[in-house]
Amino acid sequence: MSAPVQLPTHPAQWINVADAEAAAKVALPPAIWDYIAGGAEDEQTMHANRAAFARRLLRPRMLVDVSAVETATTLLDAPVAFPLIVAPSSLHRMYHPDGEAGTYRAASRVGALMTVSSAGSTPLEEVAQAADGMRWFQLYCFRERAMYGTFVEAAAAAGYRALVLTADVQILGRRERDMRNNFVLPAGVRMANFERRFAGLPDGTAHAHLMNVANPAITWDDLAWIRSLSDLPLVVKGILTAEDARLAVEHGAAAIWVSNHGGRQLDCAPATLDILEEIVEAVDGRAEIVLDGGVRRGTDILKALALGARAVAVGRVPLYGLAAGGEAGAFAVLEMLRNELQTAMMLCGVLSVASVPRSLVKTA
Ligand code: FNR
Repeated sequence: MSAPVQLPTHPAQWINVADAEAAAKVALPPAIWDYIAGGAEDEQTMHANRAAFARRLLRPRMLVDVSAVETATTLLDAPVAFPLIVAPSSLHRMYHPDGEAGTYRAASRVGALMTVSSAGSTPLEEVAQAADGMRWFQLYCFRERAMYGTFVEAAAAAGYRALVLTADVQILGRRERDMRNNFVLPAGVRMANFERRFAGLPDGTAHAHLMNVANPAITWDDLAWIRSLSDLPLVVKGILTAEDARLAVEHGAAAIWVSNHGGRQLDCAPATLDILEEIVEAVDGRAEIVLDGGVRRGTDILKALALGARAVAVGRVPLYGLAAGGEAGAFAVLEMLRNELQTAMMLCGVLSVASVPRSLVKTA
C-alpha cells in the first residue's frame, strides 16, 4: 500500500502557488476560505481569467545569450526590482496575525510593489512603517467626500507613491458563497482605516461595512477633484473596455489597472487577458497598464507583459501564502513567481521585462 500523500503545509515545502493554495484551504475556517477563493454568482469570470492564460502559448527563441536577464523596470517612473504588484485586498489580519504588515514586509523583501487597501485591518501608517518597499494606497469610490481628503493626506504623509481608485465597486458583487455562509468579520478583526477616521460604522458583515462607504454616484467628472487633493499619480482600477481606458487617460489617470476584481464583482465580465490588447491600443502609450486576474505562474506574468502590460498584480496569491504561513508564506509565493518569471525569460530568450516582444505569445 502506498503511503498517504502528505500535504505540504510549510512554506519551505511549497513548490508552486497551488501548494500554498492547498495549504491555505486547510489552515482557514471554511467561510474565510470561501471569502478569499470565491467569486460572484456562477464564478464564470473568475474561471475565465485562468482559462485566458491557458489559451496562450509561448513562442520561445533559442540560442540567445540569456546569462543575465533583467527583471528590474520602472513603474510610474520609480524603479522596481520586479514588475509584480500585490493587489489591494481587505482584512489581512483575518487570514493571519502578521496581517498587512507581514504581507508588506514579504513584498518588500522580494522587490514587489504593495498596494494597501483602504479596507485593511491595519492602519495605513502602521503598514508603512513595517518595511521600505514601494507602496501605493487604494481608495474606493467613497460616499463621503471627507473620506478622500483624510485618506489622501494620510497616504501622502506616510510615503505612499500613488493612489489607486477602485472603480468597480459601485455596489458589492453577489458573492453567493459569502451569502450562504452568512459571512461576518471574526471577532477582533476590524476595518482599522475606516474605524480610525469615522466612528459609528456598523458592526457585522463585511458587506455592511463596505456598503456604508461605497458611493454608486461617482462619475468621471469626480476624478479631477480627487486628483486635486494631492500630487500623487492616480491609477484607475477596474477598467475593462477601450472606451473607459480612453476616458481614464483623458481624465488624467497615470495608469490603467485592467481588472475584473478577480471575478468578484460582475460575473460575465471578460477575462482580463482577453481584453488587454484592445486597451493597450486605446491607451497608445499615454498611460502605463497594469493587469490582474488569474495570475498564478511566472509564465502568466510573461504573457501579460508580452501583450502590453507594464506590470502584473496578484490578489489571492499573497493571501494564500499569508494564510498558510504568515509573512514567510507570503514571501515564499512571491519569490516563486519571481523565480518562475526568471526561468521563463531564460527559456524564451527574453532579456528584459521592459521589452517583451508581442510575438512571444500566440493563441492556442
Ligand atoms: C480583493 N480585491 C480588492 N480590490 C480592491 O480594489 N480593494 C480591496 O479591498 C479588495 N479586496 C479584496 C479581497 C480579497 C479577499 C480578494 C481575493 C480580492 C481584488 C484584488 O485587488 C484583485 O483585483 C483580484 O484579486 C485579482 O485577481 P486574482 O489575482 O485574485 O485572481
